[in-house]
Amino acid sequence: MSRFSRITGTGSYLPPRRLTNADLATELAAKGVETSDEWIVERTGIRARHFADPSVCVSDLALQACLRALEAAGREASEIDLIIVATSTPDMVFPSAACILQNKLGNVGAAAFDVQAVCSGFIYALTVADSLIKTGTATKALVIGAEVFSRILDFSDRTTCVLFGDGAGAVVLEASDVPGILATDIHADGKYSSILCVPGHVSGGQVTGSPLLTMDGQAVFKLAVGVLEDTARAVLEKAGKTQADIDWLIPHQANIRIMQNTAKKLKLPPEKMIVTVDQHGNTSAASIPLALDVAVRSGKVQQGDTLLLEGVGGGFTWGAVLLDY
Ligand code: UT7
Repeated sequence: MSRFSRITGTGSYLPPRRLTNADLATELAAKGVETSDEWIVERTGIRARHFADPSVCVSDLALQACLRALEAAGREASEIDLIIVATSTPDMVFPSAACILQNKLGNVGAAAFDVQAVCSGFIYALTVADSLIKTGTATKALVIGAEVFSRILDFSDRTTCVLFGDGAGAVVLEASDVPGILATDIHADGKYSSILCVPGHVSGGQVTGSPLLTMDGQAVFKLAVGVLEDTARAVLEKAGKTQADIDWLIPHQANIRIMQNTAKKLKLPPEKMIVTVDQHGNTSAASIPLALDVAVRSGKVQQGDTLLLEGVGGGFTWGAVLLDY
């Protein structure tokens, strides 16, 4: 009998501090940085984002998302044998956020590690978890996207600091006789590493280079629209499906214009796309599982629906997962 993986529960968490565009514009104006609600909404679709307090780490956000996903799946943390956290903003250099999260969950013995693929991180993590479950290495996984991007934003750079937010989303992924995940497709092209990066690193006890995010927004935009269409078509082909089979498109939530472009190229009506970028901003690896959980809890996504998840981000990385929920 074939072995597949299937999502059995979702959860998410946003830190309580919510800033509307107007709130952020007021804070930035005090630092001499000029922006407006109008500019941000028109260019990105973002209306608000959440920022974690300085004492809160990625593993804290991930923990809350995991507790909700475990409850939805009817599972205990002790039953989990694989924990993968997709993040670019881990609690510390090492150990991984996944190991710190594991301890907070009270789980002992599960394999635990982080995946670093920036905004495509959750797609990568889901692909790895699916593979480990299919091969019998794992049976019940927690797959998480969690970020505190507010820590790496340059609040003197209006071209980036208005775009991102903090949050976490998680799924419980379990071995199943029926799919589940139908196909996955992941890629990278490192020659574009400099268009979206945090170039600093720790050396000799000091941070060398900038520890803050820098982005060539237009270059990222242009690449993103191309690869998102490619990976959507590739994952559909691998699964032997067509656009007509998609019930919900859940893309990385970076910019509503990129998302609408993808839906249009796939000939999907806008109503079939889950949109949370307006309320969350770009939460990098957390954006897809956050959007998925919102869609599940709002009753939009129903058992048996076919979902196309797709992400793109720093690396340059991109990929997609097609699944029956
Ligand atoms: O998660 C990883 C994936 N990341 C992305 O998908 C991001 C992709 N890129 C984008 O979403 C867009 O390129 C941005 C939203 C980042 C920028 O939008 P844009 O339409 O490409 O704007 P632009 O960079 O061409 O800037 C247009 C103008 C500039 O002024 P001038 O030179 O025309 O006078 C900017 O200085 O808008 C100005 N501007 C702003 N004005 C007010 C840039 N940022 C702001 C701001 N508030 N926050």
